[in-house]
Order: sequence, then C-alpha cells, then structure tokens
Amino acid sequence: MKTSLITFTATVTVILLCSTLPLSLSQRCNVKDQITLLRIKNSLGNPTVLASWTSNSDCCKWHYVECDLYNDRIKSLTIFSGNISAPIPDTLGNLPYLETLILRKLTNLTGQIPATITKLVHLKTLTLSWTNLSGPIPSFLSQLKTLTTLDLSYNNFNGSIPPELATLPNLESLHLDRNALTGPIPDSFGNFTGKVPAIYLSHNLLNGTVPKSLAQVNFTWLDLSRNKLQGDLSVFFGTNKTIETADFSRNLFEFNFTTLNEFPSSLSVLDLNHNSIYGSLPETLTGLQLQSLNVSYNRLCGEIPVGGRLQNYDNTAYFHNRCLCGFPLQACF
Ligand SMILES: *[C@@H]1O[C@H](CO)[C@@H](O)[C@H](O)[C@H]1NC(C)=O
Ligand SMILES: *[C@@H]1O[C@H](CO)[C@@H](O)[C@H](O)[C@H]1NC(C)=O
Ligand SMILES: *[C@@H]1O[C@H](CO)[C@@H](O)[C@H](O)[C@H]1NC(C)=O
Ligand SMILES: *[C@@H]1O[C@H](CO)[C@@H](O)[C@H](O)[C@H]1NC(C)=O
Ligand SMILES: *[C@@H]1O[C@H](CO)[C@@H](O)[C@H](O)[C@H]1NC(C)=O
Ligand SMILES: *[C@@H]1O[C@H](CO)[C@@H](O)[C@H](O)[C@H]1NC(C)=O
Ligand SMILES: *[C@@H]1O[C@H](CO)[C@@H](O)[C@H](O)[C@H]1NC(C)=O
Ligand SMILES: *[C@@H]1O[C@H](CO)[C@@H](O)[C@H](O)[C@H]1NC(C)=O
Ligand SMILES: *[C@@H]1O[C@H](CO)[C@@H](O)[C@H](O)[C@H]1NC(C)=O
Ligand SMILES: *[C@@H]1O[C@H](CO)[C@@H](O)[C@H](O)[C@H]1NC(C)=O
Repeated sequence: MKTSLITFTATVTVILLCSTLPLSLSQRCNVKDQITLLRIKNSLGNPTVLASWTSNSDCCKWHYVECDLYNDRIKSLTIFSGNISAPIPDTLGNLPYLETLILRKLTNLTGQIPATITKLVHLKTLTLSWTNLSGPIPSFLSQLKTLTTLDLSYNNFNGSIPPELATLPNLESLHLDRNALTGPIPDSFGNFTGKVPAIYLSHNLLNGTVPKSLAQVNFTWLDLSRNKLQGDLSVFFGTNKTIETADFSRNLFEFNFTTLNEFPSSLSVLDLNHNSIYGSLPETLTGLQLQSLNVSYNRLCGEIPVGGRLQNYDNTAYFHNRCLCGFPLQACF
C-alpha cells in the first residue's frame, strides 16, 4: 500500500514535470542565453530580421545564432543585414561563450561600442562593419586577448588609434579602414608581440610621420592608403623584411626614391601613387617579382630601369611624374 502510494506520487510528479516543462526538457539552448537573446531582441526594437527569436522555441535553432556542440552555449551571433535602428545593447556582454560576433551592413546601428563587450572573454572574431557606429575606438578592446580578427571598417569612428591594440597577442587582421580616424599611427605598432596582423587603415584622416619603431617588426600586409601620412617608408623595406603587399597611395609621403633601394624578395604589390616622391626609380626594382607596381602622380625623374617586370605594366603605372621616361612612357632624350 505504502510503496504503491509512493510510486503513484512519483509518477504524478513526473507527469506534472513533463507537462509543465516540455520545452526545457527537449531544448538544447541554455536558458540564460535564451533570456539574454530575447533581451537583446527587445533592445533592438524587435526587428523583423529576428522574428525567429521567440520564447517558445529552442534558441539553438534560431536564425543568426549558433550553439556550441559541447556545452550548448551560444558561440556565434552573426547578422549580415536588416532594419535595425538602435545602439548595440549592453546585454550583449551576457553571452559569455560568444566566439564570433558579426554585425554587418546594419546602416542604422548607431552609438558607441559598449564596455560590456569586454565580458566576452572567448571572442575571436569581432566584426562591426558597414554600420553607423561612432565615437572613439575604445582602448578596452585590448582586453579581448583571444581576438584574431578585429574589423571596425566602414563606420564613423573618430579620434585616434588606441596604442593598446598592439597588445592583442593573437591578432591576425586589423581593419580600421573607412572611418574618420585622426592622429598618428601609434609607436606601439612596432611592438606587436607574436603575430603581426595584416593592417588596413585606409580612408581615414591619419597624419604625422610613420614611426621609426615600425622597423622593429615584419609586416606582411599593410594598407595605409588615403590618409595624410608623412615621412619616408624605409622602415618597411630592406632585404631583411617580409612585406608582401604595401599600399601607401594618396598620402603626403615625400622622400628620394633613389635612397630607398633595398627591397625584400617577398614584395609583391607596391602602390605609391599620389604622393610627393622624388628622385628616380632604383635599379633594384628590376630584381623583384612584383605583381603590381604603381608610382604614378609623384615627382619622379629619370629613366625607368629596364628589366624584371618593370616593362610589363601599362603607362598609367608611371604617368603624371615630373620627368620619368622610357618604356612604357615616352623615350628619354
Ligand atoms: C534607416 O532609418 C531610416 C530612418 O528611420 C529609414 O528611412 C531607413 O529605411 C532605415 N534603413 C534601414 C536599412 O534600416
Ligand atoms: C526600417 O524601419 C523603420 C522604422 O522601424 C521604417 O520606417 C523603415 O521604412 C524601415 N526601412 C526598411 C528599408 O525596411
Ligand atoms: C549615421 O548617424 C549619423 C548620426 O551619428 C546620422 O547623421 C546619419 O544620417 C546616419 N547615417 C545613416 C546611413 O543612417
Ligand atoms: C568625434 O565626433 C563627435 C561627434 O561629431 C565629436 O563631438 C567629437 O569631438 C569627435 N571627437 C574627436 C576626437 O574628434
Ligand atoms: C614596446 O615594448 C617595450 C618592451 O615591452 C616597452 O618598454 C615599450 O614601452 C613599448 N613601446 C611602446 C611605444 O608601447
Ligand atoms: C594632425 O592633425 C591634427 C588635427 O586633426 C593637428 O592638430 C596636428 O597638428 C596634425 N599633426 C601633424 C603632425 O600634422
Ligand atoms: C623578418 O623576417 C625575416 C625572415 O623571416 C627575419 O630574417 C628577420 O629577422 C625579421 N625581422 C624582424 C625585424 O623581425
Ligand atoms: C636582420 O634582422 C635581424 C633581426 O631583427 C637583425 O639582427 C639583423 O641585423 C638584420 N640584418 C640586416 C642586414 O639588416
Ligand atoms: C636622390 O638621391 C640620390 C642618391 O643619393 C642623389 O644622387 C640625388 O641627387 C637625389 N635626388 C634628389 C632630387 O634629391
Ligand atoms: C595607378 O594609379 C593611378 C591613380 O590611382 C590610376 O589611375 C592607374 O590606373 C593605376 N595604374 C595601374 C597600372 O595600376
């Protein structure tokens, strides 16, 4: 009698549990993550792009998110387009297992990067691009030690580049291009420890001279085009270096090209158009396997050295200089 009562009670309890919590027994999604995501949706003004985010469904099956296979926590949040008119919600910091955060082509996403983002201690990819974010690039991003990709391109960020970014030990690419950044390239960029990331700083208002400290590191990919940078570029070259792609076009660089005559064999793309570079093209350029070269719109003179690939480019690679001559430009006299 007693045992059957216990059995009966237990059975009723199980049935009751099953009927009141059907979702929590079947869903993978972590309840804390689900609550956080629903708060994020609410802060973003319940945009139609997040229509699949509903309280009665498994958040591991929602669009734009991905759960980790092992712990079922949200590890990726990726939104590529949509009509979202709001700032980035602070609650985003409450997805502690997030490894990938990509918010892209959300032109009405406004405001600054919230400090709560530093709580995302597993973040590897942070892409906030083609949005309408503004304010400074916060130095607290340097606390995200696991970052491999930081892409803040195509926004309205202003102020200067925080030197602390050079302390990110695993960074492989840094995209700060197409913003309104001012001031110099930080000295600290000669201090990248471990990997030196591919660096994209084009289409900003950066000024000042390229710091000498940059000679201490080996860059492979560098795009400094369309800024107001000055000085010479000797820090990036020399036979000892490993630079492959170098775009310095549309700046205020002014130096004697003749004196810059040691290039690494790794060099593959060199774009120097629209600067104030003078002197003549060094003979050593003929020893390089350059895929492309552009020295147009400078103040160069003298004969284009003959050999290597230098006669493979069309005349626009060389035109608009002071008195540069020889094929593919007109013959020298
Ligand atoms: C951005 O906001 C403006 C003004 O509210 C609106 O007209 C426009 O459609 C929005 N665009 C997108 C892509 O959300
Ligand atoms: C975006 O949303 C705003 C208001 O929520 C609306 O006025 C606008 O028409 C929408 N734009 C697009 C492109 O859907
Ligand atoms: C971006 O935000 C600025 C204000 O910070 C606003 O003036 C501008 O219209 C916005 N641009 C777009 C495309 O929403
Ligand atoms: C950045 O832009 C904002 C808004 O236009 C302005 O108030 C602020 O002074 C700017 N900051 C810098 C460092 O230029
Ligand atoms: C570069 O690193 C060295 C050694 O860690 C340090 O002493 C120096 O202050 C750093 N320079 C910059 C500009 O961060
Ligand atoms: C860089 O530009 C700022 C204004 O944005 C100016 O105050 C500063 O003097 C400039 N620095 C150099 C080295 O030209
Ligand atoms: C750059 O890389 C080359 C080849 O790996 C190496 O010989 C050189 O010491 C490096 N230079 C610096 C400044 O790290
Ligand atoms: C090449 O780089 C190494 C390490 O930075 C340096 O010790 C050496 O002097 C450099 N050699 C030349 C020829 O610049
Ligand atoms: C450039 O440097 C070379 C080699 O030092 C020198 O002969 C030449 O006169 C310089 N050209 C100019 C325009 O200063
Ligand atoms: C070189 O750059 C100039 C200026 O941007 C451009 O007009 C020309 O087409 C370029 N030529 C080559 C061969 O890249």
